[in-house]
Amino acid sequence: MEVIVLPGAAEIGRLAADVIERVLKAQPAPVLGLATGSTPEPLYGELIRRHRAEGLSFAHARAFTLDEYVGLPEDHPQRYAAVIRRGLTDHLDLKPDAVQGPNGSAADLLAECLRYEQAIVDAGGVDVQIAGIGSDGHIAFNEPGSSLTSATRLKTLTKRTRADNARFFANADEVPQHVITQGLGTILRSRHLLLIATGAAKAPAVARTVEGPLAASCPASVVQLHPHATVLLDEAAAAQLEHGDYYAEVWAARPSWQPL
Ligand code: F6R
Repeated sequence: MEVIVLPGAAEIGRLAADVIERVLKAQPAPVLGLATGSTPEPLYGELIRRHRAEGLSFAHARAFTLDEYVGLPEDHPQRYAAVIRRGLTDHLDLKPDAVQGPNGSAADLLAECLRYEQAIVDAGGVDVQIAGIGSDGHIAFNEPGSSLTSATRLKTLTKRTRADNARFFANADEVPQHVITQGLGTILRSRHLLLIATGAAKAPAVARTVEGPLAASCPASVVQLHPHATVLLDEAAAAQLEHGDYYAEVWAARPSWQPL
């Protein structure tokens, strides 16, 4: 696990975009794992900029989103399938069917969870997974208590997550109670995990994730189990870390031949 603290979200976006650009250029059929929410917006803005200004191509890539609300109407603007199209994929040259997400309107939701987990396996797994973190320590929508080896399944959002996400809806009651989410085991199988957190509201969850015990009560702490995880933080999100000085030393001393 490498913890990198940068001055702000723009710097994080550029560094994360470098990782994705490298994967896109190195692999014949790269598979990207995409998160929704506010945290990756600067990264997605940077990817769009590189596509437009520098010709960075996604034409040979596929992508899987982390999660989806259950029960929102097909045309609801807050369905994550719509959010990721508006915020990223509509602005790139991905092939039309290259982006997949769990279907929160499936008639058989349990079968849909199994189908989605298998679709990721069939694609060869995720090369680089982008993830944010919830103020309650969730990653994707694995809320506290999630099995550390869980697969894609239905979860119930905490009141806190619904309150956090109420900003995208008319009020917290409109935020669906249920979601389909990739599991912690699914995320652990990604080949590179980029966990991003910005802002002071994330500082307690970041401290528990990075320096607390590995525990289902803080699902994002599975980052400690991942064989190749990079945690990208701004100074506000890193404020409660005990070993911040050491992380800064490691980053400053990083050999130029060692890619992230
Ligand atoms: C979204 C997701 C969530 C968010 C998290 C942080 O697909 O999986 O785990 O990453 O809730 O959300 P923001 O970035 O809006 O603070």
